[in-house]
This record gives sequence, C-alpha cells and structure tokens, in this order.
Amino acid sequence: MASKQPFARRIVIAFVLMTMLVSGVFSLSIVAVVHLIEERLISEEMQRDLDSVIHGDLKRGHSPRLNAKTMFYASNLPEYAIPEAYKGLDEGFTELLDGDQAFYAYVQEINGVRYLLIQDQGEFEAHERALFSVVFAGFILAVLGAWGLGWVMAGRVMAPVSRLAQQVRHRDQLLPLAPPLAPEYPDDEVGQLAAAFDGTLGHLRQTLERERLFTSDVSHELRTPLMVIATSCELLQQAPLETHQREQLMRIVHASGEMRELAQIFLQLAREKAGEKVNESDFTVSVGLAQEAEHQCGHWRESMAGKCLDFECLVESEDDGRYNPTLLGTVMSNLLRNALHYTEHGHVRLILETGGFRVEDSGPGIPEDEQESIFQPFIRGSRARGARGARGEGLGLGLSLVKRICAHQGWRITVDNLPDGGSRFRVEFKEVKRSASA
Ligand SMILES: Nc1ncnc2c1ncn2[C@@H]1O[C@H](COP(=O)(O)OP(=O)(O)OP(=O)(O)O)[C@@H](O)[C@H]1O
Ligand SMILES: [Mg+2]
Repeated sequence: MASKQPFARRIVIAFVLMTMLVSGVFSLSIVAVVHLIEERLISEEMQRDLDSVIHGDLKRGHSPRLNAKTMFYASNLPEYAIPEAYKGLDEGFTELLDGDQAFYAYVQEINGVRYLLIQDQGEFEAHERALFSVVFAGFILAVLGAWGLGWVMAGRVMAPVSRLAQQVRHRDQLLPLAPPLAPEYPDDEVGQLAAAFDGTLGHLRQTLERERLFTSDVSHELRTPLMVIATSCELLQQAPLETHQREQLMRIVHASGEMRELAQIFLQLAREKAGEKVNESDFTVSVGLAQEAEHQCGHWRESMAGKCLDFECLVESEDDGRYNPTLLGTVMSNLLRNALHYTEHGHVRLILETGGFRVEDSGPGIPEDEQESIFQPFIRGSRARGARGARGEGLGLGLSLVKRICAHQGWRITVDNLPDGGSRFRVEFKEVKRSASA
C-alpha cells in the first residue's frame, strides 16, 4: 500500500511509524519498570513494618506503631481480627482496588497465624497516574514531532528531485543550447539522475535537431528551384502560345505556387518544433471556407468522376471566417485524397458548416481501435493496404500532417464511422488561434 503513496508521504509515514514504535516501546518500558519497582520496594517496606510489629511491638505488649495509612490485622488477635474481605488473600504482596480507592496488602503466616498489613496507596496511585499521563503526552508529542519533522525532511529530500523534474519537463530543455543539468546538483543520487537525463536529453536533442534541419533544409532548398520555375513560367507567359499550351502553363504556375506555399508551411512547422515562432506576416492572404471548398472541388472532381464516385460539395450553414488558404487547402485536400483512395464505389461528400467542415465517404470506414493511431506519422490503417494495393502504397503521412496543421491553428479534427459504414472526418475551427486576415 505504502508504495502507491507519493514519495514525500512515504518518508513521513516511515518517520511516524518509526517514532510510534520507538516511543511506544519506551513508554511501555517506563510503565513496566514503575510497576516492578512499586511492587519490589513497597513489598520490602511492608515486610519490614510487619516484622517490627510482630517481633517488636506485639512481643513487648505494645499496640502496633504504624502510620495513619497502614492497618494491622492478625488471625489470633480478636481486637485486630481480619475483615471478611481480606481473608482469602494469598501470602505475600497484593495490590487491591476497591472502587476509587487502592490498597497494598501484605500477608505473612507464622506458625499457623496469619498477619496482614493493609496500606492506603491513594497518594502513590495519583503520582503514578500523573506519571502515566506525562508518558502518554510525551508519546503523542513525539509522534506529532515526527510527523512535522517528516514533512520538513521530505520537503528537503524531495526538493532537488522536484526541481530536476520541473527542469526536465520544461520545453526549453529540448533547445539545442540548453545548459546541462548535472553541474547544478551535488554528486549524489540526484546528481547521477541529472547526468542520466543530460545523456538522454542530449540524444533526443540531436535527433530532433537532425529532423528539424532535414525538414528545414528540404523546404529551404526547394524554394530556389521553385522560384526558377515561377520565373520561367512568367517569361513563357509573355511568349505567343496556343490556348491549350497556355492552359498547361497556368497549371504549372498554379502548382508551383502551391508548392512554394507548402514549402513555407513545412519550414514553419519545422521551426516551431524548436520553439521558434514565425511571423504572422509570413502568410498575408486569407480565404473563406466556401471559396477554398470550391477550389478543392474543382481540383478533385475529375479524379472522383474517373473512379465513378458521386462527389458533392454541400453547404449546410454559412461560415464567415477567414483562413490561411494553404493550411486549409492542405487539410481539405488530404482528407479528400484519402476519401478518393479508400472509397471504391458510392459517394464522397464535402459538407461545409458554420465553424468547420466534414468529409464523408462510403468507403470501408476506420476500425475504432485505429481511429487514434492513423494520425501518427508512418501509420497506415489495416484496411488501407488491400484497398489501395493497386494504386501503390502511401506513406501514412497525410493525416499526421493534417493533425499537425490543426494543432498549429488550434483546430480540432475528429473521425468516426457513419451508420452505413463509411468514414466521417470533421474539422472544427473552434478556438482559431490565428487565421491570417487580409
Ligand atoms: N477516408 C478513409 N477511409 C478509410 N480509411 C482511411 C481514410 N482516410 C484515412 N484512412 C486510413 O488512415 C490511414 C492513414 O492515412 P494517411 O493519410 O495518414 O496515410 P496514407 O493515406 O496511408 O498515406 P499518405 O497519405 O502518406 O499517402 C490510411 O492508411 C487508411 O488506413
Ligand atoms: Mg493519405
């Protein structure tokens, strides 16, 4: 049970239990010793008194000379006849309790005659009670003291561990130049723990840095050839071209524009990973939901028709938000691309609503236990491979990018299955963190 308690509480429990054991044994020993000494000392004293009465006072014909608290009785002397209540007492020392009163009795038998001394021990009993109260109060104080001390000690022992945990949790620890943790701690167990964290965080930092550099290098290096394509297209546009050639050229211009924006997004996502925010001014264009949906529908209509899918774009309710076209377009096109790839017949619908949109299809749907994992990079669903085998394998990266863009924008993406078996992806622009407004 104790192992499930927080560590600080376990230290306090150990302190309290230890003190209860030690001071409990100590208190009980005091009580036992007091009882033992009481019996030994008083029985010896009473024996001496009885001897002096029998062999001294009675022999000389005196009445017993005893203090006011002690009574003498003898079985052969009618004037000192033993009261009924004391007749059955055993020989030797006995402690008697009579209601609130307490007595010591000492019986001695000499030549068939029973002699008895009875001593009122009320005063001693009162002292004894006071002593036991003090011992009990000492016990309680010791336990309370241990509890308080335990908390203080636990706080001190745990403070470096809590500080280390806080430092490890801090996202700055993953920054490339984060200072090592170990030098801040003495070379004890916590210091060793800090050194172990330094090692692991170092590996993690290197891995993240490699990934970040790869993404940013690729995105960065793509910009130059894309600029070359764009400039060449601009020059070509000025040349005399046939209508269908101009159409093809416009498609190239459009595609290279999209690629430039995508490279910019990847660069931004890669930079944000390292905690470095990019200026809002990087994206200055905004788009309405219906406008982007129309653009996407135009793009996907042909492919849907090629697969004999019934493709519709429905407006359930109006939305007046403004969004970054590349980000919204990437999310929408990935969901539509998946719907196209994984639906063999039936329909695909893009449904617009206030503050979001849904992509529904009549494909195989997504098993419930995969609905979370498909958003992880490089994870593909179990039904995907069979359905998509003929079209070549995907990498399992589309939904992970969608999820990252949604997280970046403060949007929420959810997935469930429709009653007739197809899947439904829903994007809600709930707490829109930043929509680039024109
Ligand atoms: N509309 C859908 N219907 C059924 N399954 C889907 C649908 N959309 C996604 N999935 C499942 O989710 C998995 C992950 O999708 P994701 O887009 O991330 O990767 P992918 O499509 O397999 O590959 P990539 O997008 O990288 O080319 C898919 O492999 C598929 O199993
Ligand atoms: Mg995909």
